[in-house]
Amino acid sequence: MAKKLIRHLNDISKIHHRAAFTDVLKHTAPKPSQFLTLAGERYSCRSFDTREVPDELVESILEAARLAPTACNYQPVHVWVVRTEEALEKLGKTTQYLYGSRLVFIVGCNPSEAWVRKYDEKNGAEVDAAIVGTHIMMEAADLGLGSVWVGSFDPAAIAEAFPEVAGWEIVALFPVGYPAGAPAPRHAQRKPIEEFASEL
Ligand SMILES: Cc1cc2nc3c(=O)[nH]c(=O)nc-3n(C[C@H](O)[C@H](O)[C@H](O)COP(=O)(O)O)c2cc1C
Repeated sequence: MAKKLIRHLNDISKIHHRAAFTDVLKHTAPKPSQFLTLAGERYSCRSFDTREVPDELVESILEAARLAPTACNYQPVHVWVVRTEEALEKLGKTTQYLYGSRLVFIVGCNPSEAWVRKYDEKNGAEVDAAIVGTHIMMEAADLGLGSVWVGSFDPAAIAEAFPEVAGWEIVALFPVGYPAGAPAPRHAQRKPIEEFASEL
């Protein structure tokens, strides 16, 4: 039964992989840009090997995060690096989804420092933090590292474990490391372009 299910999931994954790849060729210029190739290669990495990520790569990721655009350039975002045994252990008690990673970026935002849209008072802090998080994942991918966006965590438990984050709203955690394992089958499942985008 389990074998049959796994075979079925593998088949679905292959079909979707092929579909996604054909889509890219069909809908883009003859030679995909470097970024499009990178975007196609990135996947949520949920298994990491034991190699430590060197400091230079951590710095590159932080620099990419710092360069992210924010509304009105207010930059209401902060990133914390978690990589000591003690801090990883504390963080591990606030989420089930660190996947054994030895390096985690925590991204937080401060709505009181963010741009607010005057028409409806929509606060831009979370969107800004999401762009920072996306830069973290894409730079990690470009450096040959795996990452995953983790939104399932207990914010109150993080605030209690790390007094340093007081006053910040935690938006996401990003376990990062050298990938071990493959993308989940649903990774390649994307809406067809016709359903995803349209012209007005
Ligand atoms: C806002 C957000 C929250 C997410 N939270 C989690 C999470 O808590 N745990 C997890 O394993 N993956 C999480 N993911 C990863 C998604 O499941 C993943 O991006 C999606 O299934 C597509 O797969 P892919 O990233 O491999 O293309 C999250 C992604 C986003 C954008």
